[in-house]
Amino acid sequence: MELREGSYFIQNVKALDIAEQFGTPVYVYDANKILHQLNTLKTAFADVDVKIKYAVKALSNLSILRLLKKNGSGADVVSIQEAHLALKAGFLPSEIMFSPNCADFSEIEEAVKLGLVINIDNLPFLKKFGAKYGSSYPCSIRLNPHIMAGGNIKISTGHSDSKFGISVHQLAQILDVVKQYTIKIEGLHIHTGSDITETDVFLKMADIFFSVAHSFSDLKFIDFGSGFKVSYKEGDKVMDVADLGVKLTERFNIFCKQYGRNLELWFEPGKFIVSESGHLLAKTTLIKSTPSTTFVGVNTGLNHLLRPMMYDAYHHILNISNPTGEQHVYTVVGYICETDTIGAGRKLNEVSEGDILAIKNAGAYGFSMASNYNSRLRPAEVLVINDEAKLIRERENFEDLLKGQVEIDL
Ligand code: LLP
Repeated sequence: MELREGSYFIQNVKALDIAEQFGTPVYVYDANKILHQLNTLKTAFADVDVKIKYAVKALSNLSILRLLKKNGSGADVVSIQEAHLALKAGFLPSEIMFSPNCADFSEIEEAVKLGLVINIDNLPFLKKFGAKYGSSYPCSIRLNPHIMAGGNIKISTGHSDSKFGISVHQLAQILDVVKQYTIKIEGLHIHTGSDITETDVFLKMADIFFSVAHSFSDLKFIDFGSGFKVSYKEGDKVMDVADLGVKLTERFNIFCKQYGRNLELWFEPGKFIVSESGHLLAKTTLIKSTPSTTFVGVNTGLNHLLRPMMYDAYHHILNISNPTGEQHVYTVVGYICETDTIGAGRKLNEVSEGDILAIKNAGAYGFSMASNYNSRLRPAEVLVINDEAKLIRERENFEDLLKGQVEIDL
Protein backbone atom coordinates (compact mmCIF):
# COMPACT_ATOMS: atom_id res chain seq x y z
CA MET A 1 0.00 0.00 0.00
CA GLU A 2 1.52 3.31 -0.94
CA LEU A 3 0.51 6.90 -0.40
CA ARG A 4 0.21 8.84 -3.66
CA GLU A 5 -1.44 12.20 -4.24
CA GLY A 6 -3.11 12.09 -0.83
CA SER A 7 -4.61 8.57 -1.14
CA TYR A 8 -3.46 5.07 -0.31
CA PHE A 9 -3.19 2.78 -3.31
CA ILE A 10 -2.73 -0.96 -3.77
CA GLN A 11 -1.34 -1.14 -7.29
CA ASN A 12 -3.51 1.44 -9.08
CA VAL A 13 -6.58 0.80 -6.98
CA LYS A 14 -7.52 3.18 -4.15
CA ALA A 15 -7.72 1.26 -0.88
CA LEU A 16 -10.73 3.33 0.19
CA ASP A 17 -12.57 2.31 -2.97
CA ILE A 18 -12.01 -1.34 -2.07
CA ALA A 19 -13.52 -0.75 1.38
CA GLU A 20 -16.47 0.99 -0.20
CA GLN A 21 -17.02 -1.59 -2.93
CA PHE A 22 -16.69 -4.74 -0.81
CA GLY A 23 -17.54 -3.39 2.65
CA THR A 24 -15.58 -3.87 5.84
CA PRO A 25 -13.96 -5.71 7.44
CA VAL A 26 -12.17 -7.04 4.41
CA TYR A 27 -8.83 -8.72 3.82
CA VAL A 28 -7.06 -7.30 0.76
CA TYR A 29 -4.02 -8.93 -0.85
CA ASP A 30 -1.66 -7.49 -3.44
CA ALA A 31 -0.73 -10.14 -6.04
CA ASN A 32 2.34 -8.15 -7.11
CA LYS A 33 3.78 -8.25 -3.63
CA ILE A 34 3.24 -12.00 -3.38
CA LEU A 35 5.03 -12.59 -6.68
CA HIS A 36 7.78 -10.16 -5.76
CA GLN A 37 8.50 -12.13 -2.58
CA LEU A 38 8.45 -15.44 -4.42
CA ASN A 39 10.91 -14.12 -6.97
CA THR A 40 13.17 -12.60 -4.32
CA LEU A 41 13.58 -16.00 -2.74
CA LYS A 42 14.09 -17.78 -6.05
CA THR A 43 16.68 -15.21 -7.10
CA ALA A 44 18.57 -15.55 -3.82
CA PHE A 45 18.94 -19.27 -4.51
CA ALA A 46 19.38 -19.12 -8.27
CA ASP A 47 22.59 -21.14 -8.12
CA VAL A 48 21.03 -24.23 -6.57
CA ASP A 49 18.08 -26.36 -7.63
CA VAL A 50 15.68 -24.55 -5.30
CA LYS A 51 12.03 -25.55 -4.89
CA ILE A 52 9.60 -23.33 -3.02
CA LYS A 53 6.80 -25.17 -1.23
CA TYR A 54 4.43 -22.41 -0.13
CA ALA A 55 3.08 -23.07 3.39
CA VAL A 56 -0.64 -23.24 2.71
CA LYS A 57 -1.52 -22.67 6.36
CA ALA A 58 -0.44 -19.03 6.14
CA LEU A 59 -3.19 -18.10 3.69
CA SER A 60 -5.15 -20.84 2.04
CA ASN A 61 -7.52 -19.06 -0.32
CA LEU A 62 -7.75 -21.03 -3.58
CA SER A 63 -7.02 -18.00 -5.74
CA ILE A 64 -3.82 -17.30 -3.82
CA LEU A 65 -2.83 -20.96 -4.16
CA ARG A 66 -3.52 -20.84 -7.91
CA LEU A 67 -1.49 -17.65 -8.25
CA LEU A 68 1.46 -19.33 -6.57
CA LYS A 69 1.09 -22.56 -8.53
CA LYS A 70 0.95 -20.60 -11.77
CA ASN A 71 4.20 -18.92 -10.83
CA GLY A 72 6.17 -22.04 -10.12
CA SER A 73 5.63 -22.70 -6.44
CA GLY A 74 4.86 -26.06 -4.85
CA ALA A 75 2.88 -26.46 -1.63
CA ASP A 76 3.55 -27.46 1.97
CA VAL A 77 0.48 -28.84 3.73
CA VAL A 78 -0.08 -30.07 7.26
CA SER A 79 -3.55 -31.55 7.10
CA ILE A 80 -5.32 -33.73 4.59
CA GLN A 81 -7.78 -30.89 4.05
CA GLU A 82 -4.96 -28.51 3.10
CA ALA A 83 -3.76 -31.24 0.75
CA HIS A 84 -7.15 -31.37 -0.96
CA LEU A 85 -7.19 -27.58 -1.25
CA ALA A 86 -3.76 -27.64 -2.86
CA LEU A 87 -4.86 -30.35 -5.29
CA LYS A 88 -7.99 -28.38 -6.12
CA ALA A 89 -5.81 -25.35 -6.80
CA GLY A 90 -3.93 -27.40 -9.39
CA PHE A 91 -0.73 -28.46 -7.62
CA LEU A 92 0.42 -31.90 -8.75
CA PRO A 93 0.58 -34.50 -5.98
CA SER A 94 4.35 -34.69 -6.44
CA GLU A 95 4.60 -30.93 -5.77
CA ILE A 96 2.87 -31.21 -2.39
CA MET A 97 4.82 -31.88 0.79
CA PHE A 98 2.64 -33.36 3.53
CA SER A 99 4.04 -32.69 7.03
CA PRO A 100 1.40 -33.59 9.59
CA ASN A 101 2.05 -33.54 13.31
CA CYS A 102 0.04 -35.74 15.66
CA ALA A 103 -2.56 -36.31 12.95
CA ASP A 104 -4.17 -39.71 12.65
CA PHE A 105 -2.09 -42.21 10.66
CA SER A 106 -5.04 -42.60 8.29
CA GLU A 107 -4.20 -39.12 6.93
CA ILE A 108 -0.80 -40.42 5.89
CA GLU A 109 -2.44 -43.41 4.25
CA GLU A 110 -4.75 -41.09 2.35
CA ALA A 111 -1.82 -38.88 1.35
CA VAL A 112 0.00 -41.94 0.00
CA LYS A 113 -3.07 -42.82 -2.06
CA LEU A 114 -3.07 -39.26 -3.40
CA GLY A 115 0.62 -39.54 -4.28
CA LEU A 116 1.93 -36.70 -2.08
CA VAL A 117 5.44 -36.39 -0.70
CA ILE A 118 5.20 -37.70 2.86
CA ASN A 119 7.21 -36.17 5.69
CA ILE A 120 7.24 -38.21 8.90
CA ASP A 121 8.01 -36.53 12.21
CA ASN A 122 7.99 -39.32 14.78
CA LEU A 123 9.44 -42.80 15.25
CA PRO A 124 6.17 -44.69 15.88
CA PHE A 125 4.76 -43.52 12.53
CA LEU A 126 8.04 -44.21 10.76
CA LYS A 127 7.73 -47.82 11.95
CA LYS A 128 4.07 -48.00 10.90
CA PHE A 129 4.95 -46.49 7.55
CA GLY A 130 7.77 -48.96 7.05
CA ALA A 131 5.62 -51.93 8.07
CA LYS A 132 2.88 -50.88 5.66
CA TYR A 133 4.81 -49.64 2.63
CA GLY A 134 8.34 -51.03 3.00
CA SER A 135 10.37 -49.81 0.04
CA SER A 136 7.31 -49.33 -2.17
CA TYR A 137 6.65 -45.67 -1.20
CA PRO A 138 9.44 -43.24 -0.26
CA CYS A 139 9.22 -40.66 2.50
CA SER A 140 11.05 -37.78 4.05
CA ILE A 141 12.02 -37.44 7.71
CA ARG A 142 11.46 -34.35 9.82
CA LEU A 143 14.34 -33.93 12.22
CA ASN A 144 14.34 -31.94 15.43
CA PRO A 145 17.72 -30.22 15.48
CA HIS A 146 17.58 -28.96 19.08
CA ILE A 147 17.91 -25.37 17.94
CA MET A 148 15.97 -22.63 19.69
CA ALA A 149 14.88 -20.22 16.98
CA GLY A 150 12.03 -17.91 16.11
CA GLY A 151 10.24 -14.89 17.45
CA ASN A 152 8.97 -16.51 20.63
CA ILE A 153 8.54 -19.91 22.23
CA LYS A 154 4.99 -20.31 20.88
CA ILE A 155 6.27 -20.31 17.31
CA SER A 156 9.57 -22.10 17.93
CA THR A 157 9.46 -25.71 16.74
CA GLY A 158 13.02 -27.03 16.62
CA HIS A 159 14.08 -26.88 20.27
CA SER A 160 14.65 -29.95 22.43
CA ASP A 161 11.28 -29.75 24.20
CA SER A 162 9.27 -29.24 21.03
CA LYS A 163 6.70 -31.81 19.93
CA PHE A 164 7.93 -31.54 16.33
CA GLY A 165 10.35 -33.81 14.53
CA ILE A 166 12.51 -36.76 15.47
CA SER A 167 15.48 -35.71 17.58
CA VAL A 168 18.80 -35.75 15.73
CA HIS A 169 20.07 -37.61 18.75
CA GLN A 170 17.80 -40.50 17.77
CA LEU A 171 19.54 -40.97 14.44
CA ALA A 172 20.60 -44.51 15.35
CA GLN A 173 16.97 -45.45 15.99
CA ILE A 174 15.87 -43.84 12.72
CA LEU A 175 18.48 -45.84 10.86
CA ASP A 176 17.41 -49.06 12.56
CA VAL A 177 13.80 -48.57 11.44
CA VAL A 178 14.84 -47.55 7.94
CA LYS A 179 17.00 -50.67 7.64
CA GLN A 180 14.46 -53.03 9.19
CA TYR A 181 11.73 -52.02 6.71
CA THR A 182 13.99 -51.00 3.79
CA ILE A 183 12.31 -47.57 3.72
CA LYS A 184 13.47 -45.28 0.94
CA ILE A 185 14.29 -41.92 2.52
CA GLU A 186 14.21 -39.34 -0.25
CA GLY A 187 14.20 -36.18 1.85
CA LEU A 188 15.38 -34.67 5.10
CA HIS A 189 13.45 -31.83 6.66
CA ILE A 190 13.84 -29.33 9.48
CA HIS A 191 11.56 -26.43 10.35
CA THR A 192 12.69 -24.57 13.46
CA GLY A 193 10.03 -21.89 13.81
CA SER A 194 8.70 -18.60 12.58
CA ASP A 195 9.98 -14.98 12.69
CA ILE A 196 13.63 -16.03 12.40
CA THR A 197 16.09 -13.21 11.68
CA GLU A 198 19.42 -15.03 11.89
CA THR A 199 20.99 -16.64 8.84
CA ASP A 200 23.04 -18.63 11.35
CA VAL A 201 20.01 -20.71 12.28
CA PHE A 202 19.88 -22.04 8.72
CA LEU A 203 23.62 -22.55 8.58
CA LYS A 204 23.47 -24.60 11.79
CA MET A 205 20.67 -26.64 10.24
CA ALA A 206 22.88 -27.15 7.20
CA ASP A 207 25.66 -28.53 9.41
CA ILE A 208 23.23 -31.01 10.93
CA PHE A 209 21.80 -32.04 7.57
CA PHE A 210 25.21 -32.47 6.00
CA SER A 211 26.47 -34.57 8.89
CA VAL A 212 23.53 -37.00 8.81
CA ALA A 213 22.81 -37.03 5.05
CA HIS A 214 25.56 -39.51 4.31
CA SER A 215 23.58 -42.13 6.23
CA PHE A 216 20.83 -41.90 3.59
CA SER A 217 21.76 -42.94 0.08
CA ASP A 218 18.44 -42.20 -1.71
CA LEU A 219 18.08 -38.50 -0.96
CA LYS A 220 16.51 -36.23 -3.57
CA PHE A 221 15.99 -33.11 -1.49
CA ILE A 222 16.84 -31.31 1.71
CA ASP A 223 14.06 -29.14 3.07
CA PHE A 224 15.12 -26.23 5.27
CA GLY A 225 11.55 -25.35 6.27
CA SER A 226 11.09 -21.64 6.66
CA GLY A 227 10.38 -19.00 9.27
CA PHE A 228 11.87 -15.99 7.47
CA LYS A 229 10.97 -12.89 9.44
CA VAL A 230 9.54 -9.97 7.54
CA SER A 231 9.23 -6.38 8.71
CA TYR A 232 6.24 -5.62 10.90
CA LYS A 233 7.57 -2.34 12.23
CA GLU A 234 9.90 0.29 10.85
CA GLY A 235 13.46 -0.67 11.73
CA ASP A 236 12.55 -4.31 12.41
CA LYS A 237 15.35 -6.80 11.90
CA VAL A 238 14.36 -9.18 9.12
CA MET A 239 15.83 -12.29 7.53
CA ASP A 240 18.25 -11.21 4.83
CA VAL A 241 17.44 -13.89 2.26
CA ALA A 242 20.00 -12.57 -0.23
CA ASP A 243 22.76 -13.02 2.36
CA LEU A 244 21.38 -16.43 3.30
CA GLY A 245 21.30 -17.32 -0.39
CA VAL A 246 24.99 -16.59 -0.83
CA LYS A 247 26.10 -18.45 2.31
CA LEU A 248 23.83 -21.46 2.05
CA THR A 249 24.33 -21.91 -1.69
CA GLU A 250 28.08 -22.13 -1.21
CA ARG A 251 27.79 -24.75 1.53
CA PHE A 252 25.05 -26.68 -0.25
CA ASN A 253 26.99 -26.98 -3.47
CA ILE A 254 30.08 -28.23 -1.64
CA PHE A 255 27.91 -30.75 0.20
CA CYS A 256 26.30 -31.98 -3.04
CA LYS A 257 29.74 -32.65 -4.49
CA GLN A 258 30.65 -34.70 -1.43
CA TYR A 259 27.32 -36.50 -1.50
CA GLY A 260 27.93 -37.44 -5.10
CA ARG A 261 25.01 -35.82 -6.85
CA ASN A 262 22.97 -32.65 -6.93
CA LEU A 263 20.04 -32.53 -4.56
CA GLU A 264 17.12 -30.11 -4.55
CA LEU A 265 17.04 -27.48 -1.82
CA TRP A 266 13.53 -26.87 -0.54
CA PHE A 267 11.96 -24.07 1.47
CA GLU A 268 8.42 -23.82 2.84
CA PRO A 269 7.79 -20.12 3.36
CA GLY A 270 4.42 -18.82 4.46
CA LYS A 271 4.94 -15.40 6.05
CA PHE A 272 7.72 -14.38 3.72
CA ILE A 273 5.47 -14.90 0.71
CA VAL A 274 2.15 -13.46 1.85
CA SER A 275 2.44 -11.45 5.08
CA GLU A 276 3.25 -8.05 3.63
CA SER A 277 0.85 -8.50 0.72
CA GLY A 278 -2.15 -8.36 3.03
CA HIS A 279 -4.10 -5.61 4.77
CA LEU A 280 -7.15 -5.94 6.94
CA LEU A 281 -9.40 -2.94 6.32
CA ALA A 282 -11.77 -2.14 9.16
CA LYS A 283 -14.17 0.68 9.95
CA THR A 284 -13.95 2.87 13.01
CA THR A 285 -17.13 2.27 14.94
CA LEU A 286 -16.43 4.52 17.89
CA ILE A 287 -13.96 6.90 19.48
CA LYS A 288 -14.08 6.64 23.24
CA SER A 289 -11.97 8.75 25.56
CA THR A 290 -11.33 7.80 29.16
CA PRO A 291 -9.23 9.87 31.58
CA SER A 292 -6.20 7.84 30.48
CA THR A 293 -6.76 6.58 26.95
CA THR A 294 -8.44 7.40 23.67
CA PHE A 295 -9.80 4.16 22.27
CA VAL A 296 -10.58 3.64 18.61
CA GLY A 297 -13.11 0.82 18.28
CA VAL A 298 -13.18 -1.04 14.97
CA ASN A 299 -15.50 -3.58 13.35
CA THR A 300 -12.97 -6.40 13.62
CA GLY A 301 -11.08 -8.05 16.42
CA LEU A 302 -9.32 -11.16 17.62
CA ASN A 303 -11.84 -13.22 15.67
CA HIS A 304 -10.31 -11.94 12.43
CA LEU A 305 -6.72 -11.24 13.42
CA LEU A 306 -5.53 -13.28 16.37
CA ARG A 307 -1.83 -12.50 16.12
CA PRO A 308 -1.71 -9.43 18.42
CA MET A 309 -3.52 -11.30 21.16
CA MET A 310 -1.89 -14.68 20.69
CA TYR A 311 1.72 -13.66 20.14
CA ASP A 312 1.79 -10.00 21.21
CA ALA A 313 2.48 -9.39 17.53
CA TYR A 314 2.87 -5.83 16.30
CA HIS A 315 0.79 -4.86 13.27
CA HIS A 316 1.21 -1.36 11.97
CA ILE A 317 -2.04 0.58 11.61
CA LEU A 318 -2.84 3.41 9.21
CA ASN A 319 -5.83 5.71 9.02
CA ILE A 320 -6.35 5.60 5.28
CA SER A 321 -9.32 7.97 5.44
CA ASN A 322 -7.16 10.80 6.71
CA PRO A 323 -3.60 10.22 5.47
CA THR A 324 -2.36 13.72 6.19
CA GLY A 325 -4.27 14.64 9.36
CA GLU A 326 -2.59 15.65 12.58
CA GLN A 327 -1.29 12.72 14.59
CA HIS A 328 -2.66 11.70 17.97
CA VAL A 329 -2.12 8.73 20.20
CA TYR A 330 -4.83 6.06 20.20
CA THR A 331 -5.37 2.54 21.38
CA VAL A 332 -7.07 0.54 18.64
CA VAL A 333 -9.37 -2.16 19.98
CA GLY A 334 -11.62 -4.78 18.46
CA TYR A 335 -15.35 -5.39 18.85
CA ILE A 336 -15.02 -8.74 20.62
CA CYS A 337 -16.04 -9.11 24.25
CA GLU A 338 -12.49 -9.68 25.34
CA THR A 339 -9.65 -7.23 25.64
CA ASP A 340 -8.69 -7.54 22.01
CA THR A 341 -6.22 -4.73 21.67
CA ILE A 342 -4.93 -4.54 18.11
CA GLY A 343 -2.47 -1.73 18.81
CA ALA A 344 -1.88 0.16 22.08
CA GLY A 345 -0.64 3.74 22.20
CA ARG A 346 -0.34 4.17 18.45
CA LYS A 347 0.22 7.43 16.63
CA LEU A 348 -2.45 7.71 13.96
CA ASN A 349 -3.61 10.56 11.78
CA GLU A 350 -6.66 11.96 13.51
CA VAL A 351 -9.37 9.32 13.57
CA SER A 352 -13.09 10.04 13.27
CA GLU A 353 -16.02 7.67 13.46
CA GLY A 354 -16.43 5.94 10.10
CA ASP A 355 -12.77 6.23 9.13
CA ILE A 356 -11.19 3.18 7.53
CA LEU A 357 -8.10 1.79 9.22
CA ALA A 358 -5.67 -0.52 7.45
CA ILE A 359 -3.97 -3.13 9.60
CA LYS A 360 -0.76 -4.09 7.89
CA ASN A 361 1.02 -7.43 7.50
CA ALA A 362 -2.26 -9.24 7.68
CA GLY A 363 -1.62 -11.60 4.77
CA ALA A 364 -0.14 -14.46 6.77
CA TYR A 365 -2.01 -16.17 9.59
CA GLY A 366 -4.77 -13.56 9.42
CA PHE A 367 -7.76 -15.01 7.67
CA SER A 368 -6.43 -18.55 8.08
CA MET A 369 -6.61 -18.23 11.88
CA ALA A 370 -9.94 -16.39 11.90
CA SER A 371 -12.93 -17.76 13.76
CA ASN A 372 -16.59 -17.09 14.42
CA TYR A 373 -16.04 -16.17 18.06
CA ASN A 374 -18.85 -14.02 19.47
CA SER A 375 -20.84 -15.42 16.52
CA ARG A 376 -19.24 -12.81 14.32
CA LEU A 377 -18.96 -13.46 10.61
CA ARG A 378 -15.64 -13.89 8.86
CA PRO A 379 -14.68 -11.11 6.45
CA ALA A 380 -14.52 -11.11 2.68
CA GLU A 381 -11.19 -11.49 0.87
CA VAL A 382 -10.13 -9.45 -2.14
CA LEU A 383 -7.13 -9.89 -4.42
CA VAL A 384 -5.74 -6.92 -6.29
CA ILE A 385 -4.32 -8.27 -9.52
CA ASN A 386 -3.48 -6.46 -12.75
CA ASP A 387 -4.77 -3.21 -11.22
CA GLU A 388 -8.17 -4.73 -10.49
CA ALA A 389 -9.72 -5.61 -7.13
CA LYS A 390 -11.36 -9.03 -7.32
CA LEU A 391 -13.49 -10.72 -4.71
CA ILE A 392 -11.89 -14.09 -3.84
CA ARG A 393 -14.06 -15.00 -0.85
CA GLU A 394 -17.51 -13.82 0.02
CA ARG A 395 -18.20 -12.34 3.39
CA GLU A 396 -19.94 -14.91 5.58
CA ASN A 397 -23.61 -14.56 6.31
CA PHE A 398 -25.90 -15.70 9.08
CA GLU A 399 -26.66 -18.96 7.24
CA ASP A 400 -22.97 -19.85 7.50
CA LEU A 401 -23.23 -19.67 11.28
CA LEU A 402 -26.12 -22.12 11.25
CA LYS A 403 -24.50 -24.51 8.79
CA GLY A 404 -24.00 -27.91 10.34
CA GLN A 405 -25.96 -27.15 13.48
CA VAL A 406 -28.53 -29.83 14.21
CA GLU A 407 -31.69 -28.55 15.83
CA ILE A 408 -33.13 -31.20 18.10
CA ASP A 409 -36.49 -31.37 19.87
CA LEU A 410 -36.10 -30.25 23.45
N1 LLP B 1 6.73 -25.36 7.37
C1 LLP B 1 6.17 -25.89 8.47
C2 LLP B 1 6.30 -27.32 8.71
C3 LLP B 1 5.48 -25.06 9.35
O1 LLP B 1 4.94 -25.59 10.45
C4 LLP B 1 5.37 -23.68 9.09
C5 LLP B 1 4.67 -22.80 10.00
C6 LLP B 1 5.95 -23.17 7.91
C7 LLP B 1 6.62 -24.05 7.08
C8 LLP B 1 5.85 -21.72 7.52
O2 LLP B 1 6.47 -20.86 8.42
P1 LLP B 1 6.54 -19.28 8.08
O3 LLP B 1 7.38 -19.11 6.85
O4 LLP B 1 5.17 -18.82 7.82
O5 LLP B 1 7.14 -18.64 9.28
N2 LLP B 1 0.71 -18.53 13.38
C9 LLP B 1 2.07 -18.08 13.67
C10 LLP B 1 3.08 -18.80 12.87
C11 LLP B 1 2.99 -20.30 13.06
C12 LLP B 1 3.74 -21.01 12.02
C13 LLP B 1 3.37 -22.46 12.02
N3 LLP B 1 4.13 -23.20 11.08
C14 LLP B 1 2.15 -16.58 13.44
O6 LLP B 1 1.16 -15.97 13.07
O7 LLP B 1 3.20 -15.97 13.69
